[in-house]
Amino acid sequence: MGCIYETIIRPMLFKMEPEQAHDRGRTALMALSKVPGLCSLLRACNQVREDNPVKLFGLEFPNRVGLAAGMDKDGEFARAIEALGFGHAEVGTVTPQGQPGNPRPRLFRYPEQRALINRMGFNNKGSEAMLQCLSKDYPKGKRKMPVGVNIGKAKATPLDHAVDDYVASFRTLADQADYFTINISSPNTPGLRELQTKSFLRDLLTTLRDENRSYAKKLGHQPHPLLLKIAPDLTYAEIDQIVEVLLDLDYNGIIATNTTIARPRGFTSSETGGMSGGTDIHKRSNDVIDFIHRSTEGKLPIIGVGGIDSVESAGEKMDAGASMVQIYTGWIYRGPFFAKVLAQALKSHGEDWI
Ligand SMILES: Cc1cc2nc3c(=O)[nH]c(=O)nc-3n(C[C@H](O)[C@H](O)[C@H](O)COP(=O)(O)O)c2cc1C
Repeated sequence: MGCIYETIIRPMLFKMEPEQAHDRGRTALMALSKVPGLCSLLRACNQVREDNPVKLFGLEFPNRVGLAAGMDKDGEFARAIEALGFGHAEVGTVTPQGQPGNPRPRLFRYPEQRALINRMGFNNKGSEAMLQCLSKDYPKGKRKMPVGVNIGKAKATPLDHAVDDYVASFRTLADQADYFTINISSPNTPGLRELQTKSFLRDLLTTLRDENRSYAKKLGHQPHPLLLKIAPDLTYAEIDQIVEVLLDLDYNGIIATNTTIARPRGFTSSETGGMSGGTDIHKRSNDVIDFIHRSTEGKLPIIGVGGIDSVESAGEKMDAGASMVQIYTGWIYRGPFFAKVLAQALKSHGEDWI
């Protein structure tokens, strides 16, 4: 099937303008999501279950491969993602109100590097729209895999009010999220990455932790797992400071990494935005994962993401210290059943990484 995708379907899609092809893919996934019977059939064929579910942050994941944030920005086709063999989906990044994102063109393809550059700018329909989609089409309690909600700051919100955006989306989506990811690392929202600096970060993460605790207390259940997603472009000293705050505040994990603003040597395109896919980001995110894993002695669970385009590269993320992986660009290049292939391969090596 991967062969048909790479020889027939991908060349057809790649003849289209990149965002148009992306939109076609999304439309197909949304259509699939609306046919529960077909999803169940596909799930029966594709879902990979580890012999024992992967237990992380108090949740159970059927396998170790998730869809990274940005593909399903509005939580519109998580059911289809489950049917294609993924073990979790991260939806978003969502902001409290919808916003159009940056002007097009804002997505660029580099097949030679198996990479993309995007400067989408958090185009999304807003947290209320996501709540409607998830509660109607893929409600909590009826899922076979966890859904994480990735929350961010709107373009128009000044940095010193950023926390209000995160809290607003948290409140709207708390009933439908299995975990939350706080995204402070996308390069396409002006100022967002400044939230990674220690002074902003401690305040932001403390407020969200307290919000989470009082939400859980009110409803009499466990707080949601909270994760932070970081950029690959940080120095080790900056990563150290972030990790210290996460451990201090009892955060449940870290996602390493988002896209990079760096470019491979000899790369000639001058498009701005975050680069994903390819060997450079793969290596850089591995280094970040390895650094965090060693400096915390494995105490902070890591979801590894960046440049996975083969079973080997997924294995390298796990070897570096990740507990699970996510994919995005590799999925575009390798096709809809790539998650299943990875999940099966990681399953057969499972005992190496528990
Ligand atoms: C088109 C596109 C849009 C993205 N949008 C988001 C986003 O909204 N939020 C986020 O946290 N990451 C976003 N990402 C980053 C991915 O989740 C992932 O961290 C990154 O692409 C590295 O993984 P990859 O090399 O497997 O693509 C986006 C990536 C791409 C390619």
